[in-house]
Amino acid sequence: MKRIIVVVGMLLLGVGAVSAQQDVVNQRQKVMKANGKNLGGVMGAMAKGEKPYDQAAVDAAIAQLEDTAKTLPSLFPDSTKGLKTEGDYSASPKIWENRSDFDSHIASFGKAVTEAKASIKDLATLKAAVPVLGKQCSGCHETYRLKNS
Ligand code: HEC
Repeated sequence: MKRIIVVVGMLLLGVGAVSAQQDVVNQRQKVMKANGKNLGGVMGAMAKGEKPYDQAAVDAAIAQLEDTAKTLPSLFPDSTKGLKTEGDYSASPKIWENRSDFDSHIASFGKAVTEAKASIKDLATLKAAVPVLGKQCSGCHETYRLKNS
């Protein structure tokens, strides 16, 4: 009887841990989708002339990217290595095999966001900054993001 209780307890703990890991994965996918919206749907659309230039919207988009750069280091805990996701993409196990390089991508992204924040004042400076930021996104995705098959 005692043993059954222990086993059930361990199973419950296990389930708790798994869903906590899933929460982190969901959280980082949410953050990444917001990145896509802010860089593509807001700043990119303005740079292409699909939306009028709007400094307040740029500021809000940049603020989210700054936030992302700060939270990214905590969104890839060791416990989520190899966890498959339901979305279109997953995090590559390489993140955990090459953690210092991955962290340097985060740092470099953060630096680019700070620079963009200081430089974007009008359409011309926005147009210059968007591809620089985009390179940071794809530079990390190239190595560390996997397409789910
Ligand atoms: C330091 C690395 C890194 C940087 C910088 C980065 N990403 Fe990602 N991105 C990832 C990883 C890893 C995943 C897969 C995460 C997962 O599924 O758990 C991802 C996933 C995504 C996804 C797919 C989300 C989904 O599941 O549908 C989008 C969209 C995305 N990123 C956009 C961006 C944009 C836009 C930027 C730049 C503004 C950016 N990312 C910057 C590493 C990065």
